[in-house]
Amino acid sequence: MTKDRVLIFDTTLRDGEQSPGATMSHAEKLQIAELLDEMGVDIIEAGFPIASEGDFEAVRDIAKLARSSVICGLARANFRDIDRAWEAVSHAKRPRIHTFIGTSPSHRDITRLDRSGMVERIHETVTHARNLCDNVQWSPMDATRTERDYLCRVVETAIKAGATTINIPDTVGYTAPRESAELIAMLRERVPGADDIVFATHCHNDLGMATANSLAAVEAGARQIECTINGLGERAGNTALEEVVMAMRVRGDIMPYETGIDTTRIMQASRLVATVSGFPVQFNKAIVGKNAFAHESGIHQDGVLKNAETFEIMRPEDIGLNATNIVLGKHSGRAALRSKLKELGFDLADNQLGDVFVRFKALADRKKEVYDDDLFALMRDQATDASDRIQVKFLRVICGTEAPQSADLILSIDGQEHRTTAQGDGPVDATFNAVKALFPHEARLQLYQVHAVTEGTDAQATVTVRMEEAGRIATGQAADTDTVVASAKAYVDALNRLLIRREKSDPDADVKQVRYTTAS
Ligand code: KIV
Ligand code: ZN
Repeated sequence: MTKDRVLIFDTTLRDGEQSPGATMSHAEKLQIAELLDEMGVDIIEAGFPIASEGDFEAVRDIAKLARSSVICGLARANFRDIDRAWEAVSHAKRPRIHTFIGTSPSHRDITRLDRSGMVERIHETVTHARNLCDNVQWSPMDATRTERDYLCRVVETAIKAGATTINIPDTVGYTAPRESAELIAMLRERVPGADDIVFATHCHNDLGMATANSLAAVEAGARQIECTINGLGERAGNTALEEVVMAMRVRGDIMPYETGIDTTRIMQASRLVATVSGFPVQFNKAIVGKNAFAHESGIHQDGVLKNAETFEIMRPEDIGLNATNIVLGKHSGRAALRSKLKELGFDLADNQLGDVFVRFKALADRKKEVYDDDLFALMRDQATDASDRIQVKFLRVICGTEAPQSADLILSIDGQEHRTTAQGDGPVDATFNAVKALFPHEARLQLYQVHAVTEGTDAQATVTVRMEEAGRIATGQAADTDTVVASAKAYVDALNRLLIRREKSDPDADVKQVRYTTAS
């Protein structure tokens, strides 16, 4: 049976990155884009160029580095946004402009355009985009809550103006599989010119139906799925790339579609995105969760050992998970570290490798076995430390059954060392109070989370800290075999990220807040 090709459009760097606290650095965005390109993602939505200088530069630089993926930039329905998106993506071998406007009644109210006014706006903006670029995607945001007749009218307008892909977003995660399929089928049947374009589906997961809704849309004729690694995205997230890709692969018998994704890179992408976004993957997450291939109960273990197919519908290797990933120990040398890091997607220059090797040795001294996840944590720390204004130099906490606990801390701030002792309700509270005493700030702690990177009492703890200051949110993360040290470093990492955003007086926070509410 020949299978229909479904295009995979990854929006981890745009819709995923818009998730509060998931902000990524320029280098991190490039690293993710490179991996997406290598793993066969058809279209990478690299960002929203008008949102900030940083977004623009990221899209431009990703456009320059991409080898085969189409690079797409988002733009609202106005010429300024579209010109800026084009300026960024035009560097790509295969550029795409994605322009959108909210078409449902509440979005029309916000944009203060009546039905005809909006049709006119769509016609002129899509025409403008098409004059710049021959690959133009158009989205009627909140399509699933737009009146059906009006939806047909706006889609027809965009096709006539030159859109080559029509994306149907379920912006608020409201639709259900049957409705998702009916919507695509209706548009294909009723809209003139529908056969000449590709329909895409873009689902959010508010009701936990994003994967099902995306696959239902494909069954009705959509040939592009918009998704993110780990389902990263605002609120409950977007459709997870790994879920739709593996569903179509494992159930090719009833869903005869193929993608260009090299599924053996999925785990690598999942870990990278979890690491840089600071959004850990839930243990029981489909495909990439820690437990997805773990068979704990006796009956399951017995069955799996006799015949893996008893309980496994896919093999761990299919997503790039080694059966055993014990990698290195304290006797491992530079060459072994370099080759393992390369396998994990980090290709380091000699001097970088030297720095990482020192950290690796220190870790291997404290921990018998160094796993892939330990190395990911190490690389994240490595990336954040180098240029940080605030750095943890020394920490000793006194804790026990008698309160209060105290922390003796030395921070280097802009190259100068400062020391203090602070008390608190527990060792972490005492440590955070010490940071506040040395570097006073108004930022509020929104989230504090601890995860063991691997098993065992010598496991590293990864601590995630999310902080908010004047509407700006930053997520810090750090790992250490000492949970309190990891906490101090994660807190300081979040502060450093907030400082960068403060210094750049990052306007994207404001634009991102209004991005769904206005066309201008
Ligand atoms: O969810 C949504 O509607 C979007 C659009 C910008 C396509 O992300
Ligand atoms: Zn979206």
